[in-house]
Amino acid sequence: MSIKLNTKYLEGFIKPHELEQIKREVATAHDVLLEKGEPSEKPTGWIDLPVNYDKEEFDRIITTAERIRKTCDIFIAIGIGGSYLGARAAIEFVNGTLANLTKKNGPAVYFAGNTIDPDALEELLTLCEGRDVCINVISKSGSTTEPAAAFRVFRELLEKKYGEKGAAERIFITTDKRDVPGKLKHFAIEKGYETFVVPDDIGGRFSVLSAVGLLPIAVAGCDIKAMMKGAEKARADLSECNIDTNDAYKYAAIRTLLMRKGFEIELFVSYKPSFQYTNEWLKQLFGESEGKDKKGLFPASVIYSTDLHSMGQYLQDGKRIIFETVIDVISSKSCVKVPYDAENIDNLNFLADKDFHYVNKQALLGTLDAHVEGGVPNVVLELDRMDEENFGYLVYFFEKACALSGYLNGVNPFDQPGVEVYKKNMFKLLGKPE
Ligand code: PA5
Repeated sequence: MSIKLNTKYLEGFIKPHELEQIKREVATAHDVLLEKGEPSEKPTGWIDLPVNYDKEEFDRIITTAERIRKTCDIFIAIGIGGSYLGARAAIEFVNGTLANLTKKNGPAVYFAGNTIDPDALEELLTLCEGRDVCINVISKSGSTTEPAAAFRVFRELLEKKYGEKGAAERIFITTDKRDVPGKLKHFAIEKGYETFVVPDDIGGRFSVLSAVGLLPIAVAGCDIKAMMKGAEKARADLSECNIDTNDAYKYAAIRTLLMRKGFEIELFVSYKPSFQYTNEWLKQLFGESEGKDKKGLFPASVIYSTDLHSMGQYLQDGKRIIFETVIDVISSKSCVKVPYDAENIDNLNFLADKDFHYVNKQALLGTLDAHVEGGVPNVVLELDRMDEENFGYLVYFFEKACALSGYLNGVNPFDQPGVEVYKKNMFKLLGKPE
């Protein structure tokens, strides 16, 4: 398992001497990244997480997930941002987008607390009628409004259904380890809920391989040991400060050079619908880490060929401010062929007996050539397949690339001061006490 950077489609956009010249900046950014700091200021625990994690808690995640899988039909992960996207990305990446409808055993996994829309909440509540439910509330701060409000709703549902004691056996909390009145950990202790820890030195969007993501991922039936193995391999492959051997660093250097040339938008491209939430995770990772001090690439995403029929025109022919980062998944899990039809009324026999994976690949190759010809630089990242090990590898690859990119661009990749502004206004409008 691995991610390989293919720079073939960057010729003419990035010159070899530009990559040589940025090496010095990469070295400085690497040193800054590895400099130790206070966990709250510099949460870099994710760098060694693949080898340095709480093994006892990891085993408890596996046994708890097994128990949950036997005791409910519906499992709801309640969280937002970094406490939501990683788990959803992993589950869809490995299980596909329809797993809640098609899988043979284990609960359906849904997400709540990532929106304040009453209709979305009502839909999920309706789905829970007559079914056994467990919930996992995930919030590092333990005080984020969206998940806290959703938790009240689902706690009420569980307590009405199972009584306070019965509900307590179905509520799992993932949060900061400190017991502070008014925060989630305190609440969990008061009510006797089982808890898992968000490590101090790992921030929300870097936390998918901690209990934050691992419990929902394990409940969905994914192999979290394999996921950690993939991340461990990535850690070994991507530790050197050398863009000739470390593809995460080379990718960071390339996207920085493209930004400096006026390409302001990085478009993450996949040809697999089950990558959609990995795209969402990537957008959060890069957007929240880099978009500050009036700087940063704007991360966007598409799924082709679907979006070639909506965004393709702009990409081919619109403003030249976009570069694409294409995740090329080398092998598919399934082999479905276009059937041969003797009548050939639809004139489609030129595709007869061809595997959809092959056809998809030709769409990728054709689009790459077309967009590069149209003046769009394309970074290609080749990923072996969509399984747990590769997801773990991918997470580590992009986290490392993102952190380095932040320092290359002179911003702190680990804070998100801008997110507070909307909250202040919303709380004022809602009359929250000071
Ligand atoms: O990456 C981040 O830090 C944020 O996106 C948080 O994950 C998000 O705001 C949710 O925060 P919390 O886990 O404290 O509820």
